[in-house]
Amino acid sequence: MSADVSKLDAYWMPFTANRQFKQAPRLLTQADGMFFRDDKGREVLDGIAGLWCVNAGHNRPKIVQAIQQQAAELDFAPPFQMAHPKAFELAERLAQITPAGLNRIFFTNSGSESVETALKMAIAYHRVRGEGARTRLIGRERGYHGVNFGGISVGGMVANRKMFGSLLSGVDHIRHTHDPARNAFSVGVPQHGAEFADDLERLVQLHDASTIAAVIVEPVAGSTGVLIPPQGYLQRLRDICDKHGILLIFDEVITGFGRTGNPFGAQTFGVTPDLMTVAKGITNGCVPMGAVFAQQKIHDAFMTGPEHLIEFFHGYTYSAHPLACAAGLATLDTYADGDLLTRAARMQDEFAKALHSLRDEPNVIDVRNIGLVGGIELKPLDGQPAKRAFNIFLDCWDKGLLIRTTGDTIALSPPLIIESSHIERIIDTLRGALRRAA
Ligand SMILES: Cc1ncc(COP(=O)(O)O)c(C=O)c1O
Repeated sequence: MSADVSKLDAYWMPFTANRQFKQAPRLLTQADGMFFRDDKGREVLDGIAGLWCVNAGHNRPKIVQAIQQQAAELDFAPPFQMAHPKAFELAERLAQITPAGLNRIFFTNSGSESVETALKMAIAYHRVRGEGARTRLIGRERGYHGVNFGGISVGGMVANRKMFGSLLSGVDHIRHTHDPARNAFSVGVPQHGAEFADDLERLVQLHDASTIAAVIVEPVAGSTGVLIPPQGYLQRLRDICDKHGILLIFDEVITGFGRTGNPFGAQTFGVTPDLMTVAKGITNGCVPMGAVFAQQKIHDAFMTGPEHLIEFFHGYTYSAHPLACAAGLATLDTYADGDLLTRAARMQDEFAKALHSLRDEPNVIDVRNIGLVGGIELKPLDGQPAKRAFNIFLDCWDKGLLIRTTGDTIALSPPLIIESSHIERIIDTLRGALRRAA
């Protein structure tokens, strides 16, 4: 089946250069393991786990079967004042792999919804404890927390914010951690920049801690172009939050479910947040789902008042959807079968070596890595930011490799089932594309 371009008008595509796309559509029609197939029958190596989500690779039999069976058994169950058994089962299973204490699970349908949920939970938590003045939310420059109003308010990617008015009030940002002058070409965690966390002290001085509810950061900032936290930075942020009674939220929508070498980034970096947002890998990308993992003390603070009253006025029609729960349970089984949630730790040296072999290729100004995440930053074309990387994306697609670019950074986040031969193919294809783009 090749694309009928006359039928491409109605679909307004998300985060896409629509006009460019529709001139030469890139259509995926099948997927299995490490590969997609396009509408022309070409095999395309998946260098980004779909969109940082298909961590166990495509078309995993247990997950496919679970979704099929669930659709026939219980297609929907209302989640308000009602439930179905798999919602509890999945929450219990998740609570077994979350970092210590994060054992209360609130289900959503996406990363963006998880972020909104966590932000609301943080503000409401302080209120139910009698600290209702703590409403301010602190994000970080270059952060990505989805696309809803809360998420873009605490987010720090300019293009995602500038078109959309004044956003939430009472939000501020600490500085980002990118420091190429000191950290370019760091292998793994960069050495310099723990002190960037002290920027939170500056905001505490400005606003007073008694007005601040929470700080939200991605342990590894992904969408902005793969920024790895400097050695000691997240711990310092944790310490400052503790000192001032501020909740720390980790947005683990991409670092969750094995991406950095442990089930969660919190474990890789040895820092436990008060709230954690996840999505994507929770169902291996097969059915939309997200979740917020809360420390029990946060959950328990709400469990007061008359028992017949709703404690937290928040939720979605599709929270804990039966298909998503079935997919989530089968996904956890699939991760366990292949020991996948720690596989990135076993593959990361080989992946890092291959990635850093690109450092002397034309226009490469930085290479960054952790677990099975890679970022290759390029010198922009004069006066045309993002174009060089986009050209490389198109070239790689042409050669049968799917990568992702953001600005002039190439991001890689392959399925955790990746083998040496796939790593070689990714790097060879990229090397060729970098040279052709010189
Ligand atoms: C850190 C982070 N938070 C939130 C989101 C938003 O997730 P979704 O696209 O599922 O709404 C993303 C998506 O990439 C993300 O990387």
